[in-house]
Amino acid sequence: MLATALYASHAYLRRADRDGIARDDWAAHRWVAPDESLSHLAAAQWLAERVQPSQVAVRTDSLVTMVDAARNGMGVAPLLCMLADASARWVLQGATPMTKKIALIVGSLRKDSLNRKFANALVEVAPAELQFEFVEIGDLPLYNQDLDDAHTPPAAWTAFRDKLRNVDGIVFATPEYNRSMPGALKNAIDVGSRPWGHSIWNAKPVGVISASIGAVGGFAGNHNVRQTMVTLNAPVMPGPEVYIGNGSALIGEDGKVNNDKTKEVLAGWAAAYAKWVEANGRKA
Ligand SMILES: Cc1cc2nc3c(=O)[nH]c(=O)nc-3n(C[C@H](O)[C@H](O)[C@H](O)COP(=O)(O)O)c2cc1C
Repeated sequence: MLATALYASHAYLRRADRDGIARDDWAAHRWVAPDESLSHLAAAQWLAERVQPSQVAVRTDSLVTMVDAARNGMGVAPLLCMLADASARWVLQGATPMTKKIALIVGSLRKDSLNRKFANALVEVAPAELQFEFVEIGDLPLYNQDLDDAHTPPAAWTAFRDKLRNVDGIVFATPEYNRSMPGALKNAIDVGSRPWGHSIWNAKPVGVISASIGAVGGFAGNHNVRQTMVTLNAPVMPGPEVYIGNGSALIGEDGKVNNDKTKEVLAGWAAAYAKWVEANGRKA
């Protein structure tokens, strides 16, 4: 027996409603069943072992529905029932709706950056569905609009833009410099925001954490990033807020966070951010 399946998360359906994507017709198809138990189907039994039912809001075996959904931007996962064992796991991994690709941008360029160390700790304690990738900003030439106008952007700009265009969310870990965000970070944000109409920040769920050797934890830099991201139409998670003050006291000689409290704070923040991405995520 050969079956195919399509999965959609609750977040996708909320977006579909918000963006006016028609899905009324899908209800006419077999297996289109928000939260319905499909336990009588062999493929569903295999699936249920691997995906929490609450993560999946729509399933279908209708080819017409899948084509319709794919046209609307939804991922379609072919599931071969006769391969429904561990050897078919790659199929499921490609379809797991909760996995989110998150760019992590550190606002400091120095090799011993506290913010990078806290960012590393964040990756360690974050929920598994957040797949982080550090995206570096140190090699980006200063933004000069002439280069975009002449269609001669530096290769580093293009690589940076391409990398961020396809992520599901962005996390900034930044210090503050002179009660603002560091210039290197502002440059990176400016690079990503252009050419006009092609900003890679648009609609990307953003989270910001900050750390400082001072007591206020980089609050001003953190809020500079928030302000700029709001201007760029990125949904910025309002809270919980993380401003790590006296940061150097919280890092051990091994370069790792040296206490459970900070790890707990970061874990709580990451869990909230995962929900934020799920609720507000949309490819730009
Ligand atoms: C140019 C510059 C300006 C700074 N301004 C501030 C500031 O306004 N407020 C603050 O708390 N720390 C400030 N600091 C200190 C930083 O918080 C500290 O260097 C921190 O460790 C930088 O982050 P990093 O460890 O991730 O590089 C400044 C540091 C530099 C180099």
